Amino acid sequence: MADTAQDPRLRLGVNIDHVATLRNARGGAVPDPVRAALLAEAAGADGITAHLREDRRHIRDDDISRLMEAIRLPLNFEMAATAEMQRIALRHRPHAVCLVPERREERTTEGGLEVAGDSDRLADFIAPLAEAGCRVSLFIAADEAQIEAAARIGAPVVELHTGTYCELHAAGRIEARDAELRRLYTGAVLARQLGIEVHAGHGLDFESVGPIAAMPEVRELNIGHFLIGESVFVGLDAAIAEMRARMDAARS
Ligand code: PXP
Repeated sequence: MADTAQDPRLRLGVNIDHVATLRNARGGAVPDPVRAALLAEAAGADGITAHLREDRRHIRDDDISRLMEAIRLPLNFEMAATAEMQRIALRHRPHAVCLVPERREERTTEGGLEVAGDSDRLADFIAPLAEAGCRVSLFIAADEAQIEAAARIGAPVVELHTGTYCELHAAGRIEARDAELRRLYTGAVLARQLGIEVHAGHGLDFESVGPIAAMPEVRELNIGHFLIGESVFVGLDAAIAEMRARMDAARS
């Protein structure tokens, strides 16, 4: 999403992938992720995130076309760094492209992108995307080597992987969780020092969002699975409003 250095408000990107997961379970047209995106927009989301996976297990190509047409919010298009995905991104020119690692057998994005060991290829990969006006973000672990590599290849944004923190939080492993939080914080500070905008996401829920939202270096959170699950019980607008309130409370 836009670099809003003057805007202190933490942005919320709503990931609608799992509306498509539910749709695909029956193979029809409902529930429609585009409808969810429009509802999220009305409920105060600042952006919509969708991950077109190589195996199309949730979001499909036509969802991306329909999202590009239907939503006014910026689309954060998550994808693997493959030639096929690059072609799709260049065709649609979404506001942001977030590069994520992808393995077919994984249930969700398990680790961060290896930037340090693949920086020449990634530099070449992101150049045409940046030229097309897409704001490129790299989904990485909060490791110094990865953050420095992201800066070297000129990525304007990194998204720090909060999955381990969330798992430790859910397991009640307080010391390990706090160590992971410190790692995320140190990473966020380093990225800002290197001039990179910092986003964060993966696994966040009402209980875990506070300490991440409280980090002033973090400009945007991308949250999906929990919000879509919660919406079954309270509705998507109420789930988003509650997340927004918790983010704002942590920020203040
Ligand atoms: N950010 C990135 C880069 C992701 O790959 C995902 C999962 O698709 C998320 C955020 C959202 O994670 P979750 O669905 O666990 O909230």
